[in-house]
Amino acid sequence: MKNIHVNTGAAYDVKIGHSILSESGKLIRSISKASKAAVITDSNVFGLYADKLTSSLEKSGFECCVFSFKAGEESKSLSNLSEIYSFLIKNEITRSDIVIALGGGVVGDITGFAAATYLRGVDYVQIPTTFLSQIDSSVGGKTAVNIPDGKNLVGAFKQPKLVICDIETLSTLSEDIFSDGAAEAIKYGVIRDKALLDMITEDVHKNLDEIIYRCIDIKRAVVENDEFDTGERMILNFGHTIGHAIEKHSKHKISHGKAVAMGMVMMTRACVNDGISQPQTLNDIISACNVLSLKTEYDCDINELIPYILSDKKRASNTINIIASDVTGNAVIVKKDVHTLSDFLSCVSDKQDK
Ligand SMILES: NC(=O)c1ccc[n+]([C@@H]2O[C@H](COP(=O)([O-])OP(=O)(O)OC[C@H]3O[C@@H](n4cnc5c(N)ncnc54)[C@H](O)[C@@H]3O)[C@@H](O)[C@H]2O)c1
Repeated sequence: MKNIHVNTGAAYDVKIGHSILSESGKLIRSISKASKAAVITDSNVFGLYADKLTSSLEKSGFECCVFSFKAGEESKSLSNLSEIYSFLIKNEITRSDIVIALGGGVVGDITGFAAATYLRGVDYVQIPTTFLSQIDSSVGGKTAVNIPDGKNLVGAFKQPKLVICDIETLSTLSEDIFSDGAAEAIKYGVIRDKALLDMITEDVHKNLDEIIYRCIDIKRAVVENDEFDTGERMILNFGHTIGHAIEKHSKHKISHGKAVAMGMVMMTRACVNDGISQPQTLNDIISACNVLSLKTEYDCDINELIPYILSDKKRASNTINIIASDVTGNAVIVKKDVHTLSDFLSCVSDKQDK
């Protein structure tokens, strides 16, 4: 089992290995004296992994209760959060007990937010079971729910006490959901680690253990430098400025990871045209996306995306922060005047190259 220590305000370990879910009772006991463990999961993960987790927890002396909600982004809602609070109250979970998120990013985000706010804060553990949640959402302490006005608009920073990444759980993921995580892995390679990008392009499944380790370690380093997202952490949004706009424009028919893949390519094409990025970086990203069957184009007029791009959190008054890589493995943040955005992005479709 590998370990990555995350040295944030409240420090914690990320345990990475195969079949370590069955050791989670012991691992959680090493960081918690709780008598009760409240496991929050979704309807897909419940049938696959909840029994294995609770039997391991019971062996280590935890009294368990399990709450399972309908799988999907719609469940990252205030109404589901309220159900989670009621479940915790009904099961008499106190501040000395522990809450455990077992599932993908949806489970992790809403459980983390419940843990940040229930009784003004209880300890929680992340057990991520998707590629995306293992390399991204379970580490760094961003928790949130969606409200009708938008995604992740209500949330809190709350670092987990422990993260347990059992790589074996990824074996039950569909290729489609796996590829959402793969897009985020490509992002880490492009912003920080060319060798990682090469590994992904060569064979993501063969190199999976090393890829997961490297991605988490990049997230660790960035989060340690900027826990509360006021500067460097912005580079983790590479591909997301256009990606979020595509998600919204497609009315969420295009999933997050697939939109990020398109966003990385489109933004890098604009940056090559503007002299910010090297053409080789664009080729590197396209090659990785092609290997993973991630589309690199979104078929619409870029001007239709601009209103969504301008509502991005990275906008400040008349400037917007563009996250780019000048060469593969080195992210840069470039400020653009919003009035020049349309010109800057006018070349993002590959049709312009032909
Ligand atoms: N907090 C952060 O820093 C951060 C970062 C990135 C993304 N996110 C959030 O993460 C969420 C997306 O996470 P996601 O992609 O993991 O989606 P998800 O949690 O919806 O999981 C995707 C699907 O996979 C299923 N699933 C989970 N594990 C499985 C397994 N091992 N085998 C089979 N099926 C399994 C789920 O039931 C679900 O149907 C979004 O809400 C996004 O906003 C948060």
